[in-house]
Amino acid sequence: MIPEMISHYRVICKLGQGGMGEVYLAEDTKLHRKVAIKSLPAKLLMDKKAQKRLVIEAQAAAQLDHPNICAIHEQLEEGDRSFIIMQYVEGETLSERIRRGPLAPRESLDIAAQIADALAEVHSHGIVHRDIKPQNIIITPLGRVKVLDFGLAKIVRGESVSENAGVTSLWFTDFEAIVGTAPYMSPEQAMHAALDGRSDLFSLGTLLYECASGKPPFCGCCAAEICSKVIHLDPPPPSQLNRWVPPGVDRITLKALEKRVELRYQSAVELMSDLREMRDILQPEDPSSHHDLLRPTAAQSAIALTITDDSQQPPPAFLGAALRDVSWVMPALSRSPQSVTA
Ligand SMILES: Nc1ncnc2c1ncn2[C@@H]1O[C@H](COP(=O)(O)OP(=O)(O)O)[C@@H](O)[C@H]1O
Ligand SMILES: [Mg+2]
Repeated sequence: MIPEMISHYRVICKLGQGGMGEVYLAEDTKLHRKVAIKSLPAKLLMDKKAQKRLVIEAQAAAQLDHPNICAIHEQLEEGDRSFIIMQYVEGETLSERIRRGPLAPRESLDIAAQIADALAEVHSHGIVHRDIKPQNIIITPLGRVKVLDFGLAKIVRGESVSENAGVTSLWFTDFEAIVGTAPYMSPEQAMHAALDGRSDLFSLGTLLYECASGKPPFCGCCAAEICSKVIHLDPPPPSQLNRWVPPGVDRITLKALEKRVELRYQSAVELMSDLREMRDILQPEDPSSHHDLLRPTAAQSAIALTITDDSQQPPPAFLGAALRDVSWVMPALSRSPQSVTA
């Protein structure tokens, strides 16, 4: 159980839980604002490595100052427990959003571009996030993205890293954590090989794929099966799962999902600029950016009109021209012929 008061923070309710932390909403009684408090779940309270990870998480995230990254206020110890006090982010996680169905292509691109922007900041500090996935992204009511959870973050300062023993054992002894995370891992992560910021770009590719198509690119019944697919399987383009996905989104997604690191996007900035460019090409009113409008494709665009004209007059001249544009012909026909069925 979490205490009711932690320093001058009054705990209000639980906000969420992942594989390695529990997050609570609390009131800062000095500054009179809401904050989020992260602590270890009961099962990890006695785990020294997990305690250390929480402190590393706070230290990594505290270095970052970016509108798309959840801000850290402080890290404190109370009794024998560690807590991270951070900005409370109102909204829903991206996984909750995706559960309602795929996002419109423009929205998917916008969210991915904001995450890429955050990753540019993360990588510029020599940090690899290593856990980019929909559960670790919150979308605010105004559409602003906040990247959370630096629980697996690694401070590499420009060098490639191999998993260090402490993190690997913490990560892989928790079966649920690996099942939850495996679909978003890069091949080098799944192989426990050295990795750098380009691993996060692969994870962002899996997230974009899921936003656009509604399904993650690598699925399976266990972590081993998913990891094997991450390493060996080339997924179909997202447009094969959702026909509203434009070719540009397919292209960006598959480039981010290149198995070979050197064929992938080489930096978060490069990926961000492709995402933004494509987003700006898709105007909000472009029907392909609103797949929920149920717009038929050209091949399926057929409308049968039965027109009964009781006037005994020759067909009005406007009819031929109007038929070229059904949205115009409907009001026009309602003026002249007596009955129209479509
Ligand atoms: N700053 C925050 N504001 C609001 N909700 C949060 C915040 N941080 C985390 N959450 C919620 O708590 C969940 C778990 O937090 P997270 O840091 O991802 O824990 P874990 O390390 O266990 O995965 C998130 O998916 C989100 O729903
Ligand atoms: Mg998490």
